[in-house]
Amino acid sequence: MLHIQIRINAVSQAKPEFGQAKLQICRKEVSMKILVTGGAGYIGSHTVVELQNAGYEAVVLDNLSNSSEKVLERVEKLTGKAVPFYKADILDREALEKIFDQEKPDAVIHFAGLKAVGESVQKPWEYYENNISGTLTLVDVMRRHGVKNIIFSSSATVYGDPAFVPITEECPKGQCTNPYGWTKSMLEQILTDIQKADSEWNVILLRYFNPIGAHKSGTIGENPNGIPNNLMPYITQVAVGKLPQLSVYGDDYDTPDGTGVRDYIHVVDLALGHVKALRKIEEKAGLKIYNLGTGTGYSVLDVVKNFEVASGVKIPYVIKDRRAGDIASCYSDAARAKEELDWEAQYGILEMCADSWRWQSQNPNGYEE
Ligand code: NAD
Ligand code: UD1
Repeated sequence: MLHIQIRINAVSQAKPEFGQAKLQICRKEVSMKILVTGGAGYIGSHTVVELQNAGYEAVVLDNLSNSSEKVLERVEKLTGKAVPFYKADILDREALEKIFDQEKPDAVIHFAGLKAVGESVQKPWEYYENNISGTLTLVDVMRRHGVKNIIFSSSATVYGDPAFVPITEECPKGQCTNPYGWTKSMLEQILTDIQKADSEWNVILLRYFNPIGAHKSGTIGENPNGIPNNLMPYITQVAVGKLPQLSVYGDDYDTPDGTGVRDYIHVVDLALGHVKALRKIEEKAGLKIYNLGTGTGYSVLDVVKNFEVASGVKIPYVIKDRRAGDIASCYSDAARAKEELDWEAQYGILEMCADSWRWQSQNPNGYEE
């Protein structure tokens, strides 16, 4: 059954006024319309804020399998602009056709996907079906509607255990340790082949490093289901008293303090990277790949210390065995994004910690009232 829900349909249908000079001005002012799949999620919601702030029209499509519609109300409060929303699944071709018919987007930013690494090991079929079949369906509907501009959420996980650090985009892709990672690696290949076969496509693959932090307002942020797998949400839940202590997975890596080193990046910086990538799409990008990271690695214990300073809350921790599939060090060389997108991360680790804490302390139960 078709299940499209338009919560707010506030997209202006106003026609430009007549007169050649006026029309030219109007044309310049007309913003691109961006369909944001997974736009109710953690990175998607922050990106919708920055898209609207930059003057783009954002339309959100999400099946809410890992998010809440309340996020969009909060986004609207932050930007003062309506967010047209379709509750729909990227596997639902009929729903996608209707959305494309109605909205006629210029480009798609494709966040929708399942992302829990451990769950992907238990449910590989569900991950391949959702992430790969979903993207194939989306891309097919896009091309049938002549929409050939896509920005895809990839991950540093495609580098596997990286051949070198800092990781440039030239670093060879590696062996992923889980089905989630393979969906990213395979989808990069699929989108690359589609662009190679049809040069009308503009495909930008963004390889995110480790997004943390939250909007400065503290009203939107990361809201994992159940016990968090990732470091920062685990720390914030310890800080707020929901979990007793942090387990640090391994202190015998070949790193300065023995704990794993990652390139944490503020989610608002990441969101702004998408705005810059859209500008690249407007210049006819062809196929482009960019790391989105800060270029600086921090260990688990560095993050704990910075969080304690930013929040004033002590984080008890115990050292445990290494977590299966983890690597010692993963941080980016962020030069290409700076040079070609004019983008670089602005926020440092203390701000990332402070903003994660503001979100968690103001919303101890996430979007549940
Ligand atoms: P998220 O789970 O918060 O957001 C993903 C959104 O997609 C959710 O709102 C979910 O409801 C929606 N969704 C899932 N399957 C869907 C489907 N079939 N149809 C429609 N909607 C669907 O995750 P996030 O952290 O915001 O990540 C966004 C994207 O970035 C994902 O593709 C993720 O794999 C990728 N990524 C995330 C990270 C990270 O650390 N958060 C790192 C690298 C890459
Ligand atoms: C993980 C995923 C990766 C995904 C990324 C973002 C694995 C192997 N990799 O990356 O595919 O793209 O999340 O979603 O799961 N740590 C602790 N205690 C904790 C949690 C984490 O010590 O409770 C450590 C880890 O060992 C690691 C660091 O903190 O050294 C960061 O972990 P995490 O936030 O899970 O991210 P990644 O492992 O880098």
